[in-house]
Amino acid sequence: MIITIDGPAAAGKGTLAGAIAQKYKYAYFDTGMVYRAVGLLMILNGKDLSDEAAAIEYASNLTFPQMMELSKNPEFRSAKGGQAASIVSAIKDVRAKLLAMQQNFALNPVFADGTKANGVVYDGRDTGTVVCPNAELKLFITATPEVRAQRRFAEFQQKGSNLTYEEVLADIKARDERDSNRSTAPLKPADDAIIVDTSDLTIAEVFAHVDEIIKKRLK
Ligand code: DC
Repeated sequence: MIITIDGPAAAGKGTLAGAIAQKYKYAYFDTGMVYRAVGLLMILNGKDLSDEAAAIEYASNLTFPQMMELSKNPEFRSAKGGQAASIVSAIKDVRAKLLAMQQNFALNPVFADGTKANGVVYDGRDTGTVVCPNAELKLFITATPEVRAQRRFAEFQQKGSNLTYEEVLADIKARDERDSNRSTAPLKPADDAIIVDTSDLTIAEVFAHVDEIIKKRLK
């Protein structure tokens, strides 16, 4: 079974995807990583983020092991890294170059140790619309910008970041705007996606709700 989880930044997609993957022994692909990897390569090589040719070149040559290596860099998950990812992800050819790598993951889903997985959970912005339009279950996870900013702010504080809540909220809103209004694969629910608003739900409540949906689909 392939499950896709799309939604805006900091809606709780990753936490939910990880919990589903663990319970059902599914492999997990956080597709934001491909764009974060290209964004980080731009930063590390001193490229201007408007240099589309450089971004397309990095996207063309990106490999899965290189992406995993880049993910160890502290800048990979930083606000700056997220912003760079959002900017390069709006380039049509960057998305096209990174599509096969994301789709191939579902062909032979395995865990890091090589053992076979029972299925795949994808998370991102376009996994139900573009990456896996034939997925058996599509979820669209959302929450208000304020709730998402509060969650991301708490995460950044734990990592010792000194960004203020207002700065994090402004970043979330800027990313929503860019991710939703780009011309290629804009953030939007697939027609057959189930929409879950997590604004007033705990992580456990979101998981319990989604788990019921999965159990019904598996029957
Ligand atoms: O989920 P994330 O914060 O790691 O994603 C970083 C950026 O990558 C996000 O702002 C938009 C882009 N992205 C995308 O365009 N499509 C995806 N499937 C996943 C992420």
